[in-house]
Amino acid sequence: MGSWPGLSRDFEQLLEAELNPGKMAGYPVWEAARYSLLGGGKRVRPRLLVAACELAASPPRAALPFAAALEMIHTYSLIHDDLPAMDDDDFRRGQASCHKAFGEATAILAGDLLLNRACELMIRVCLENPEGPCLKAMGILMEASGGVGMILGQDRDLALERSPEKEVELADVLWMAELKTSRLIRAALLMGGWLADLDQEVLDLLGTMGTSLGLAFQIKDDILDCVSSRDTLGKTPLKDQGAGKKTFVTLAGLESARTLLDEKENQVLRILDQLEAKGLKTGPLAGLVAYLTERNY
Ligand code: IPE
Ligand code: IPE
Ligand code: MG
Ligand code: MG
Ligand code: MG
Repeated sequence: MGSWPGLSRDFEQLLEAELNPGKMAGYPVWEAARYSLLGGGKRVRPRLLVAACELAASPPRAALPFAAALEMIHTYSLIHDDLPAMDDDDFRRGQASCHKAFGEATAILAGDLLLNRACELMIRVCLENPEGPCLKAMGILMEASGGVGMILGQDRDLALERSPEKEVELADVLWMAELKTSRLIRAALLMGGWLADLDQEVLDLLGTMGTSLGLAFQIKDDILDCVSSRDTLGKTPLKDQGAGKKTFVTLAGLESARTLLDEKENQVLRILDQLEAKGLKTGPLAGLVAYLTERNY
């Protein structure tokens, strides 16, 4: 697979600039945050945000700071996800995970720093653009990543890990995945849609698409844990089963997981058709969906 479509070099430069420690250079918490944020990652969520903006004939300029804030929050969630108290993973984005490189305490703080930095950036953009949808976009992200979104999903993931397998149903895994993964992916599409001033019907379609696309993303992540390699994935495979994780694969088996993945991907394609029928510029989003379907890491 070649390079992923949909983001300019400006995006990486913005991340670099927002995480420029200036006078704080050399402090471990800054080094650790930079290490995790700038050290790789597919940038799926920012790409989706930009592709949703590009549905409009004239996409807005304010998209990149929100895409950067989204990637910062996603990266903080990964740093915390890898901690020994959570998934205990040593390897992330093709390098030692943050706590392995910098120690647990610094990794916790680096996650906190990224969350805070994301909010600082969005507030700055909101103050510069008091009219228009910036505050709404920030609200979408904060809710999606918070206690009724990603954080609750991570809480459910840990609770299901401790539950005996026979007490867990597929519906529990679906809800957990919708919270921990779909909410941020849905937020990416909705933020893009709001920033591009798309109408309510389109926003509703983007919301539904985000839920299905996020579930497809997590099902694929669970499958890849089972079938991929450390070099390809950039993280340690075959972790979920041994850790007692309740995933689409550990609960339903590889074949059922693949069937459910097909179902979710078809839902996404049907919504893409509906967006296209409305005369929107679906090319970039369709290209990204194709990449996500084909991805092997
Ligand atoms: C990993 O997300 C966490 C999940 C929600 C499955 P990504 O697969 O997008 O991780 P990066 O950003 O490319 O490292
Ligand atoms: C998603 O689940 C994690 C977050 C929402 C942060 P996983 O725990 O399966 O993600 P990976 O496999 O560690 O990337
Ligand atoms: Mg996890
Ligand atoms: Mg994990
Ligand atoms: Mg996983």
